[in-house]
Amino acid sequence: MAIFNSLGSNYKAKHLIHMFTGFDPRQRDAFVEYLKDRYDANVQLTYKGREALYLALKNSKLKEGDHVAVNGYTCYAVYDAVEAAGMVPVYLDVEENSLNFGLAQLKQAHKKDKKLRAVIVQNTLGFPADIAGIEKFAHKNKMHLIEDLAHSIGMRYHDGREAGTVADAALSFSQDKAVDAVSGGAYVYRGKVQEFITKHLGYGKFLKDYYYIWNTQFIRSGYVWGGGKFYNFILRKLRWLPKPMDGAAKNVRRPDTWHATLAFKQFKDLGKTIAHRREIAKIYDEALPKRIKYAFDDNASYLRYPLRVSDPASLIKHLKSKGIYISDTWYEAPVSPARSMSKTNYESGRCPLSEQVASRMINLPTHVNVDAADAEKITERINQWLSTQE
Ligand SMILES: Cc1ncc(COP(=O)(O)O)c(C=O)c1O
Repeated sequence: MAIFNSLGSNYKAKHLIHMFTGFDPRQRDAFVEYLKDRYDANVQLTYKGREALYLALKNSKLKEGDHVAVNGYTCYAVYDAVEAAGMVPVYLDVEENSLNFGLAQLKQAHKKDKKLRAVIVQNTLGFPADIAGIEKFAHKNKMHLIEDLAHSIGMRYHDGREAGTVADAALSFSQDKAVDAVSGGAYVYRGKVQEFITKHLGYGKFLKDYYYIWNTQFIRSGYVWGGGKFYNFILRKLRWLPKPMDGAAKNVRRPDTWHATLAFKQFKDLGKTIAHRREIAKIYDEALPKRIKYAFDDNASYLRYPLRVSDPASLIKHLKSKGIYISDTWYEAPVSPARSMSKTNYESGRCPLSEQVASRMINLPTHVNVDAADAEKITERINQWLSTQE
């Protein structure tokens, strides 16, 4: 079978059982209780991670017009949540050889910007940020700290705390995330319990999500002989595949019981899934040359394995010719996807290191559909490509 970064790659044929289960509202309630217990906090489920991030900003003491520090290498969904809350995203460049900003960047921004009142920590691709330093600085300077767990559910920081237990947090259960319920999210907060008005996501959206596991299974399994490719083409034309970037942060919706049940099941397997991702990342790490890698981090949960190469488009093309489809890169622009950059307040040159990271980024898959033999095959193909570049 062809290898993909996305297209339902968190699912195997055995998961088609989810077409027949997941409609018991008691499971949804049990999931909320589970999350409350895990994070020792209150929980509001949402249909998207960006909605949870929006709630985290709206339900804080922050005011409209306040500035919010975000990673300079991020997703448009983060920009959207901050902007929808009436606040202004301020981009902090990543540290050298890292995908996250560090304490130095936060201190510098705070010194220059008197309106900087909040900071969102992102743990890009599951690499832990310097939470202890950032938390201490945020507390000292009365900045509101939010953990964005879109990439890092289940990850532990270097000080041993689990992501989501340090501050108010936004979780995403969207396609290709560590917990993938096709869509979904949760706002985790520690203040007093609040009632949030949320509306149902709508049956059109629900049905697209519901058939996603089946549809993507068919696409991936039939890709090599062409049927899957054609089916993918038709579904996209008919707009029958849910698009990860669809939806505004401000439009806070409830996920269906089906999404909640699916996310709950994946939480139960999370330890195993992260161990698998790390094992695959280790194989990549051992077989690839140092000059194209980021330092291995035993704490990282490796949502994807990042590489830096001088010509990502050429490597993506080379791998495609070998049945490895990884063109869906997180991220190919400082505020990704690149087509949305013009809608943001990011100014070219603002974060030079983030721009460099984006221009060289390759993501290798670590999900359940990649095994050790696949990972070895991928590294062989990359080393082959590298030998043609010298
Ligand atoms: C860093 C980051 N935060 C938040 C989100 C929002 O997640 P969702 O797509 O569930 O709204 C994303 C989406 O990929 C992301 O990459």
